[in-house]
Amino acid sequence: MEKKILVAVAWPYVNGPMHIGHLAGAYIAADIFARFHRLNGDKVLMVSGSDMHGTPTAVIAEQEGVAPIEVAERFHKRMSDTLKSIDVSFDLYTKTSTQNHKEVSQEIFLTLLKNGYVFKEKMMQAYCPHDNRFLPDRFVEGVCPYCKNPKARGDQCDSCGRTLDPKDLLDPKCKFCKNPPVEKETEHYFLDLPQFSQKLYDYISSKDYWRANVRSFPLSWLKEGLKARPITRDMNYGIPVPVKGYENKVLYVWFEAVIGYLSASIEWAKLTGGSWEEFWKDNKSAFHYYFMGKDNIPFHTIIWPAMLMGYNLELNLPYNVVSNENLTLEGEKFSKSTGNYIEADYIIQKYGSDQVRYYISSIMPETSDTDFSWKNFVDSINNELVANFGNLVNRTVTFIERYYDGKVPEGKLDKDVEKAIKDSFAKTSDFLEQARFQQGLAAIMELSKFGNKYFDNQKPWVSPKESTNTLFNVIQIISALRTLLNPYLPKTSHNLEKLLDLQQAEKWEYTPVKVGTNLTSVGLLFAKIDEKVIPEEKALMLAPK
Ligand code: MF3
Ligand code: ZN
Repeated sequence: MEKKILVAVAWPYVNGPMHIGHLAGAYIAADIFARFHRLNGDKVLMVSGSDMHGTPTAVIAEQEGVAPIEVAERFHKRMSDTLKSIDVSFDLYTKTSTQNHKEVSQEIFLTLLKNGYVFKEKMMQAYCPHDNRFLPDRFVEGVCPYCKNPKARGDQCDSCGRTLDPKDLLDPKCKFCKNPPVEKETEHYFLDLPQFSQKLYDYISSKDYWRANVRSFPLSWLKEGLKARPITRDMNYGIPVPVKGYENKVLYVWFEAVIGYLSASIEWAKLTGGSWEEFWKDNKSAFHYYFMGKDNIPFHTIIWPAMLMGYNLELNLPYNVVSNENLTLEGEKFSKSTGNYIEADYIIQKYGSDQVRYYISSIMPETSDTDFSWKNFVDSINNELVANFGNLVNRTVTFIERYYDGKVPEGKLDKDVEKAIKDSFAKTSDFLEQARFQQGLAAIMELSKFGNKYFDNQKPWVSPKESTNTLFNVIQIISALRTLLNPYLPKTSHNLEKLLDLQQAEKWEYTPVKVGTNLTSVGLLFAKIDEKVIPEEKALMLAPK
């Protein structure tokens, strides 16, 4: 049965450039997963886009004195370029400001209203009398009523992960002027989450294969009891609420952003002639995998599934929600203001996209927070990528050029080599199916180590002319590695294809390299990084900007 895999990746806010936390949180994992499934013969649709609306963008625009959409477009362009430069292979990376997304979002809103899952109610909303404006949830700050984190925001507490309402906060303050807000009456639409409690409970209970960190959030939420949540806002930037009398209100940014997964699939179908229904209306052979940072779990495990359940019963629910924990940097939290921060563009341009992909994959924060450190980055590139894998390729090519005129010599696949290759494919598939990216990479590097050991044990330098079989075998190992590494290191994989005169990998299997193949020199795959960059990068990071 042909599988269809929707790879749905969280939509980044357009309020600043991407940093390596974004890459480690969602984009690299999602891309490895998508590339693996394409090679594995599955149909893959990988979509995301920029989350254009929302108050952070509106606030930057206000500070700059320009229209919010101008700020949004600027960072949208920047994000798209960053994602391309690190080879994230979206089938479509779009944005929430398209006409298509607006239409799909409004239609879902109206259908939920018609189906009785959305109701309207007068409510009191935080209002700043000093600034004369309603305050969006995240612009009310105060103490979290659950975990007492003093820096909780009115939309959510980053410490305990709970979704909040501004009036839940203890000691609330206006973010702009620090005065306490007052409550003022307004009217909003609410998503009636309690109606979905049982269905959501059954749905999440059946997902025993979800990562423990992902599953525990919604389960504890359900235990506390769901509350209806307002899904419109008093604001003029965003998607208009398609109801008379609501001209000054927009759909809540989170409500419409999650709809992006569906609207982007529809847009992709319009652009390519593909079928979005094939991915969304098939509960037997289509599987939806969502990738995101940990803050986004509640929206993907409770709110979006509830919206889908209430919209109709035809559309697939998330099959897996793959969320990473956080990346710290030199042992501390990321922070733009203190300088403990690395921009994605900077590190990609300076050290290479595959180098960054390699290191981030090797420390992917899958089950707990992990740390990026410059020392560890340099060590990992030098001791693993260069000394293990780069060295295997380099010594083999040099040997063949020197003794066999650059042509792959005669030989037959040794039994133990054949087995090592087979095992490596099986193990790596297993890990990747389960979205265990660190272990997948480790399994691949094992094969590279095996190749080096094999080379060492055979000692071809003792009688170089008679060592054709050894070199033939090592070349086959390298051929296997070019496929295995394709999801992780796409550029390197293509370089190996040039070297070995292979077609672009299309299948998740080892392709034999023919005797007599002329090796095409591609130079060194990776250069060693000088250790002096470690103190330099640290100093740069902490220098005032
Ligand atoms: N923009 C949100 C963030 O950066 C993520 C939105 S994901 C989606 O945290 F589900 F809304 F698409
Ligand atoms: Zn204020």
